[in-house]
Amino acid sequence: MRLLKPFYLLLVCFIITADAQESLRKYADSLGLNIGVAIRESYITGTGSSATTHNNIVKTEFNTVVCENAMKSQNLAYSKTTYNFSTADNVVDFAIANKMKIRGHTLVWYRQNAQWLISGDREMLLANMKYHIEKVMGHYRGKIYQWDVVNEPFDEAGSGKFRTDNNPWQTVIGEDYIDSAFVYAHAADPGCKLYINEFGTTFPGPKSEALYDKVKEMLDNGIPVHGVGFQCHEGAVEDTVAAGLYAGIKYNFNRFAELGLDLAVTELDIQSSDPKAQADNYRVYLQVALSFPQCRTFVIWGVSDKDSWRSSGTPLIYDGNFKPKPAYDALLAVLKDPTPVVLVDRRARRLTKAGYLVYDRANNTVRVNDPSSNGPAIMEMFDLRGARIAKVTLRANNPLPLSSMKTAPGTALIRVKDEVVRIARDK
Ligand code: G3I
Repeated sequence: MRLLKPFYLLLVCFIITADAQESLRKYADSLGLNIGVAIRESYITGTGSSATTHNNIVKTEFNTVVCENAMKSQNLAYSKTTYNFSTADNVVDFAIANKMKIRGHTLVWYRQNAQWLISGDREMLLANMKYHIEKVMGHYRGKIYQWDVVNEPFDEAGSGKFRTDNNPWQTVIGEDYIDSAFVYAHAADPGCKLYINEFGTTFPGPKSEALYDKVKEMLDNGIPVHGVGFQCHEGAVEDTVAAGLYAGIKYNFNRFAELGLDLAVTELDIQSSDPKAQADNYRVYLQVALSFPQCRTFVIWGVSDKDSWRSSGTPLIYDGNFKPKPAYDALLAVLKDPTPVVLVDRRARRLTKAGYLVYDRANNTVRVNDPSSNGPAIMEMFDLRGARIAKVTLRANNPLPLSSMKTAPGTALIRVKDEVVRIARDK
């Protein structure tokens, strides 16, 4: 027994230390969130200190990976008869060994294509596309839980038109290439969730409308699309509340969720030279994502700023020396404390033309400013798993006490200033 004592002490110390180990992964696991990162593939088999640090961060902090480049056709399909999966396989093996999920990126895109794949007439391109999808999805069948089947089908400028520049899928086949790709993909791996992935669609606007119209049409026509990937390559806004950041993203994501689709943040990076603003922005993206039960995947596009595709904008959550930035802390804080977020529904925004609710600072209550013309407003609270935990009808004579509610600073849809609460992004 005397001999066992030091052993137990050691064991207790070990358990305490292990438990003290904080990570994004630990809390994301407990929330059922796939927190992912794009892998710099060369590091996976690398032996230098950057590679080691990168790989340690990936497996400790994340539970999901995506290949930044290795699964693009240029890097797999050297010719129709010569596919080389070795680099991508290394990432997949690494992920499986570390009990991580794998997103597939990407099957049909205008960039980084093997030349043979996009050469020929409509019939040839459709046949090539089918062959490629079957080959790649077949190789990874059962290992990849989501695929970006079609990537960036809309034009660069954000007009909402389909992308024609350097895009033979569109110019040779026509817009129905998108539908065909999903049909082929579903047949190739029926258990996989199939995504359409786009950038510049985080907020309402012509590109986002076009994406919405396309996925709605696909659903109406029975095309097997299961999710919308929002890449979210963004720049930080200074004051997330004033900019209505939470409200804008929430409103836009919600339209897609209401179609019955899953959502994913697929390539998040936020350029900024101001670490605090950047952290605030990261926090808001995660809070919006978590507020949707349909959005269980949140992927950051790289580990360290030095390896980012736009490294000069220092957009990631680790600096060039792999040191966590305030953005990392912000994400960890959100995951640790799924704080309820106060939301005001869309009817309330429309009902109050100027978009005002009145905040009574002395009593810490909120009420609508003019119920006679505007009627009641509905206020809802969600926890970060997306479950609604309260719904309150606000009337002039029925102020809502806020004391019992925790509103995460900077994330509420309402702005507390000059004793007035203004709903962000009201029209
Ligand atoms: O691997 C070669 C290397 O051998 C060569 O020495 C070097 C010289 O430039 O180029 C290397 O390839 C580069 C590759 O990244 C790997 O670093 C390519 O030139 C470069 O074009 C490629 O850029 C990638 C880009 O997609 C290509 O379109 C970025 O890493 C990657 O982050 C970026 O990812 C895209 C998503 O797939 C889709 N959404 C937008 C996102 C950002 O652009």
